Amino acid sequence: MTTSVTEMDLPEVDLVGLGRDEMLRAFAEAAEQSWLIRTPLGYAVTRYHDVNAVLRDRRFHSAISLIPEMAGVERSPGPRRQQSILAMEGDEHTRLRRLASPTFTPRATDKLRPFMREVINELVDSVVAEGACEFVADICEPYPIPVICELLGAPKSDWRRFSKWAVDIFRIFNNDVANDMPAIQEAMAELDSYVGAMIEKRRHAPADDLLSRLIAAEEEGDRLSTAELVMMAEAVLMAGTDTTRNQLACCVALLAGKPDQWRALAQDPELAAPAVEECLRHLGAVRGTIRFASDDIDYRGVTFPKGTLVMASLAAANHDPEVWFDPGRFDIARQAGAASQMTFGSGIHFCLGASLARAELQEALPVLARRMPDLRVDGEVEWKPPTVGIWGPSRLPVAFTPTR
Ligand code: HEM
Repeated sequence: MTTSVTEMDLPEVDLVGLGRDEMLRAFAEAAEQSWLIRTPLGYAVTRYHDVNAVLRDRRFHSAISLIPEMAGVERSPGPRRQQSILAMEGDEHTRLRRLASPTFTPRATDKLRPFMREVINELVDSVVAEGACEFVADICEPYPIPVICELLGAPKSDWRRFSKWAVDIFRIFNNDVANDMPAIQEAMAELDSYVGAMIEKRRHAPADDLLSRLIAAEEEGDRLSTAELVMMAEAVLMAGTDTTRNQLACCVALLAGKPDQWRALAQDPELAAPAVEECLRHLGAVRGTIRFASDDIDYRGVTFPKGTLVMASLAAANHDPEVWFDPGRFDIARQAGAASQMTFGSGIHFCLGASLARAELQEALPVLARRMPDLRVDGEVEWKPPTVGIWGPSRLPVAFTPTR
């Protein structure tokens, strides 16, 4: 016997206007009464095991592609673009992941670690004599673009263009899609033709880069089409830039308030990996994702009618007291328990770039801790509005003892 979700008496959390901490508190209070919560956007699951179960349940489909429609933007006329991997489901998604996953292994991304150290050291060089900087603009924003360009095989002379495209395309997550759509579409068109030309070049002259490996990827005679290759390159740029930027800013905003842990990180490189996991758990830049019921779905005795939106709160799952001891405490030496932090999602859409993102953060943090050992917040930290999908500080003024 199941009950339709629409008939249930559920605790309600009005997310509008809530800051991150208020949202977590409201979710935690509601979670004490019920595993399912009603919000203005749909329903929300907040406990670790439900978040994991919903994301692993193939009947719940990604609602990412619905964002423009939810904001009232109609699909533009003209040729239909290849759907993003983030929005694909079923056999189509399985096939793409099977072909693309081998190019994203930790071994493949580890090759970029020396380059990551070079990039972060150059960024530190540009501010270290000043003794102060605005950490978001000076370090976090420029950091991921060279890494993604190096991964894809785009030259240094094009870093700026990639950065602009990424900024414009990311407007899709800024809750003003109706106004931003022309800029988003222009950036997409420019990026399409740039990547299309790159693919043509690599087909004739393969190089040691992601694009060439994706072109060569083959399984039982199956290969990625040009449209799929363009989409994958763009998905990497889109999904791998703002996320890493914001996550690095979240990590440093946290660690700047914990001088003992910052010093420990500078002294012990072994702490880099657990420190990154704890930052991702405690203050993840992606706080939630959204699914819709592809059919009438029964889950835990509740029927979710076809089309029902369900938000999976990754941030709340990362603070579930059933899973994490003293979840509000930030400790980079926290013992890894049975569960992994949830900021990279779960199930079939689990972040394809997780090993790259981990490597970027694991390389950046120890360099920063060693070269700015007394880094501290020096002014007001401003945070992006809580409604923004990829979230973190928009301004992080820091000071440290200058060095040459
Ligand atoms: C700290 C940085 C990052 C965070 C927090 C993050 C988080 C996420 C999350 C939560 C998802 C799943 C979304 C969902 O289920 O709806 C995802 C998917 C994805 N991420 Fe990341 N990501 C990060 C960095 C990266 C990087 C560096 C890349 C590029 C190499 C990347 C590429 C992707 C792709 C391609 C997907 C789609 C996978 C699929 O749908 O099968 N991400 N990411």
